[in-house]
Amino acid sequence: RFAATMKSLARRADLKEYVERTPAVYALLQRAAAKYVAGDRRAEALEAGIRLGEKDYAVSIEYIGENTADAAACEDAVREMGEIVRDLAERGMSGRVSFDLSHIGLMVDAELAYKGLVALAEQAEQAGIELFISMEEAAKTEEILAVYRRAAARYSNIGITLQAQLHRTVQDLNRLRSDATGRVRLVKGAYQEPSGLSIPRSEELNERYLGLVEDAIEQGHRISIATHDEGIVDEVIRRGWARLPGVEFEMLYGIRPDLCSRLKQAAYPVRVYLTYGREWYLYLCHRIAEYPPNIYQAIVDIASE
Ligand code: FDA
Repeated sequence: RFAATMKSLARRADLKEYVERTPAVYALLQRAAAKYVAGDRRAEALEAGIRLGEKDYAVSIEYIGENTADAAACEDAVREMGEIVRDLAERGMSGRVSFDLSHIGLMVDAELAYKGLVALAEQAEQAGIELFISMEEAAKTEEILAVYRRAAARYSNIGITLQAQLHRTVQDLNRLRSDATGRVRLVKGAYQEPSGLSIPRSEELNERYLGLVEDAIEQGHRISIATHDEGIVDEVIRRGWARLPGVEFEMLYGIRPDLCSRLKQAAYPVRVYLTYGREWYLYLCHRIAEYPPNIYQAIVDIASE
């Protein structure tokens, strides 16, 4: 229930407007968000990416946004993402650009999202950069996979995120085998879904996660193990999968940097998922929703000068 409350707070336009027009509140919350978000501007995300690159981490970069209902704003988001592709390529960074399809048109019309995706894929392919589609609520899964499959038939530089918590994911992964060769990012899933569609955090979910990693490897997918769950990470290492070509660990910026560092020191490939943008409020609410103890950290960060 707490997670659902945080997610609904993230979506309340009146609260967002209040935060944005109240400088003191804005500054305080932004201080809490700074742990997870590289900054408001693309340049700040690139700087963070360069610093991480110096420590031998690869990065994914997301311009924060979702559920954009205005076509012109979707096109602006595509332009901004194109700028990330350009900046990464100019700096010779092994970055990946990650986004929600609902940020680039899915809420307006799937065709708009497809057009935006193809425009980015074209530019990214020429620049040698990989794109990555995030996975949103279960109500959008079918549409997201349909847009992905269409684009993946034309471009091999697009990856897709799958959520282990959804029952359908076992079949979805299987279906990708035949028609998409892009990388698969496996996450547990950040959304509260009806129990008929998903399973909650549990040993059963962890076992399913590991089973999906095994299936993905057997099917020849390159895979990102996107979790902060140390038990899963250690099991992936114990089973020898972490040394296979195409397997990498990926974690969100600001969460478990100690685990990232341990993996890096053991010479496993680690990617850090960086976000930036003025929608950091949304992102902060998501991180608190998925791990409620973060609210205490947020209060400490707000209180500290
Ligand atoms: P779990 O939630 O079981 O947490 C395991 C442990 O990790 C916790 O006990 C805690 O120690 C630590 N931890 C986890 N979350 C934390 C947090 N917010 N703050 C501090 N510690 C935390 N989801 C989705 O639905 N669609 C998507 O496209 C993506 N994309 C994505 C990309 C990448 C690179 C990552 C790492 C994650 C996502 N997610 C996502 C989010 C994902 O679904 C999931 O909600 C979070 O990763 C948290 O789940 P864990 O797998 O870490 O396990």
